[in-house]
Amino acid sequence: MVDHELATANGYSVTARYYDDVYTEQTAPVDQPFYLHYAEQAPGAVLELGCGTGRVTLPLARAGHRITALDLATDMLAIFKRKLAQEPADVQERVSVVRGDMAEFELAERFGLVISPFRAFQHLLEPEQQRRCLERVARHLQPEGRFVFNAFQPNLRYIVKAQELAGTFKQVNQATLDDENRILRRYVQLTPHPGLQRHQILWKYEICDRFGKVVETQLEEMWLRWFYRWEAEYLLELSGLAIVEAYGGFDKRPLDENAAELIYICRRKES
Ligand SMILES: C[S@@+](CC[C@H](N)C(=O)[O-])C[C@H]1O[C@@H](n2cnc3c(N)ncnc32)[C@H](O)[C@@H]1O
Repeated sequence: MVDHELATANGYSVTARYYDDVYTEQTAPVDQPFYLHYAEQAPGAVLELGCGTGRVTLPLARAGHRITALDLATDMLAIFKRKLAQEPADVQERVSVVRGDMAEFELAERFGLVISPFRAFQHLLEPEQQRRCLERVARHLQPEGRFVFNAFQPNLRYIVKAQELAGTFKQVNQATLDDENRILRRYVQLTPHPGLQRHQILWKYEICDRFGKVVETQLEEMWLRWFYRWEAEYLLELSGLAIVEAYGGFDKRPLDENAAELIYICRRKES
């Protein structure tokens, strides 16, 4: 058994290897049609912040949208580039892959739509980083452009329960790996830090042979920052964005206290 050292926070180096195995249609949010809808309405090209392995990027590019896909994690981008190389030439031509920090980026183009799917924005742990990111989003939008992103809505009952269970691993996925001879089991250990509004997440990936014997174990730590609805709305407004729609799920359910997601559609505020 090989126990790897913890990767640096939010490095995605271990998770990258298994990301497309664990986030399938059954386990990832059904968000592609939602983001596609806004791409279809957009007056210009798309910028995606935290594109990962291209889970949302590729369907948008296949549907004919030009998209700049930005991410900080080289391991996620390496997998994305491998997948992109297998796409038809016209899809490849529509995608530009950029390694960068969503809190610091500066691109020459102005976009009709900026998106940040699957809670990528929650990897920005400091309010100052969040603010810088949103100011850059506002600056990179065309006048009629939109910014669409989602985060989870913090649920205090869930956070209290997670605190009681802190220190224990819970299995969240099982998948058969490509060669059919190996099984992947993924576990999570969640430690909420309510004073910091952060989750410390420890993923454990167990690779088993076809008899179910664990042959390799890998760990990776990640942190996510949570924010409440009104905090998010102040932050958006302070950063030069105006909210035009808000939803609690990708089916456009209302953003009420039972909603699992915080989904915002914003435009640049008039200066
Ligand atoms: C949960 S994944 C989402 C990936 C993709 N958007 C999806 O929907 O499958 C979060 C992504 O955000 C990226 N990320 C985290 N911090 C970032 C930062 N500061 N700048 C750019 N990307 C970042 C991670 O590398 C990771 O690929």
